[in-house]
Amino acid sequence: MPEEKLCVPTLLTCTAPVNIAVIKYWGKRNEDLILPINSSLSVTLHQNQLKTTTTVASCKHFKEDRIWLNGKEVDINHPRLQSCLREIRRLARKRHSDEENNSEKLNLSQKVHICSVNNFPTAAGLASSAAGYACLVYALAKLYGVQGELSKVARQGSGSACRSMYGGFVQWIMGNRSDGKDSIAEELHPETHWPQLRILILVVSSERKPVGSSAGMQTSVKTSPLLKYRAESVVPQRMKEMVDAIGQRNFEKFAELTMKDSNQFHATCGDTYPPIFYLNDVSKRIMNMVHRYNSHYGNIKAAYTFDAGPNAVIFTLDEDVGEFIELVKEHFPPETNGELFLKGLPVSKVTLSEEL
Ligand code: ADP
Ligand code: DP6
Ligand code: CO
Repeated sequence: MPEEKLCVPTLLTCTAPVNIAVIKYWGKRNEDLILPINSSLSVTLHQNQLKTTTTVASCKHFKEDRIWLNGKEVDINHPRLQSCLREIRRLARKRHSDEENNSEKLNLSQKVHICSVNNFPTAAGLASSAAGYACLVYALAKLYGVQGELSKVARQGSGSACRSMYGGFVQWIMGNRSDGKDSIAEELHPETHWPQLRILILVVSSERKPVGSSAGMQTSVKTSPLLKYRAESVVPQRMKEMVDAIGQRNFEKFAELTMKDSNQFHATCGDTYPPIFYLNDVSKRIMNMVHRYNSHYGNIKAAYTFDAGPNAVIFTLDEDVGEFIELVKEHFPPETNGELFLKGLPVSKVTLSEEL
């Protein structure tokens, strides 16, 4: 049998975590390069909580690039997927020409097959695009032997994905260059900085959101005066305050800023025309429960944040997490709230990991 019939693909599997923003990104100043109108800040979740697993395969017999998401083939010609593939291949070619004596054979003409699975609801406001594109970029980079700063590439898949390239506490600096070269993510502190911090995920609904984040923020940029005010006059100061609160491990300050920022983000969705509603009645009951819990103690012991979806992310300290879980079970008994589930884990380290 001729050798080329024996297609033994080069296979590589990686996993990447979700990150949840405590200062939200909402709105682009450049749609193609995915450049934001404000900086943002997130914490990286533990991979035992929410993660994407992506396998990439390359083989000289593959006729075209293809991708399967959660077991179903999706269109590889999606511009965001094409941007990531193009950028990684460009960096690989650059490396190839820089290292003339490179003995490794990087066959850039070979096509790839990509298979990606999220272990949590996709497009439901739990940052699947962040873990998904971070994982894709990382896996492709490994396959092609590309190193260096990759958050710029992940950003071109989904803005929030640039923050999932790092662990711990991460900021995405908006940058001001028109080519986007200064719009990158950086780790502010590793996860070891605040080991007492706990993150709970309350899945209220696994359904796909009615308006995807990309389309939603596009309408908000066009129509919401509140979003413009937020980006220009609120977030710059709030970023500084959040960096300080995290630096000092000041939970009350961190929690207050987190809730206010989530609320303002959802207010900009309401200010969008036509308005976008991501929160549902259960989300609002969770918000009330957190505020009642805090006022019962007279200080802030828990905080919520909601991305573009109804699902809640709760922050507490380790000493309170058990009590908070009991409170949730009381308010939302499993028999009446089938989908609501809880996981309380610390902030995670850099968790892009290669599983060979
Ligand atoms: P979410 O709140 O889950 O991030 P978005 O509307 O931002 O929702 O993005 C959802 C889209 O992200 C999906 O429709 C899909 O195009 C993309 N996506 C999600 N998971 C992956 C993945 N594992 N690999 C590639 N793309 C993904
Ligand atoms: C509410 O990163 O999903 O989760 O860049 O268009 O892919 P695109 O949008 P995406 O938006 C995330 C919005 C958010 C807030 C955040 O993660 O900062
Ligand atoms: Co997203």
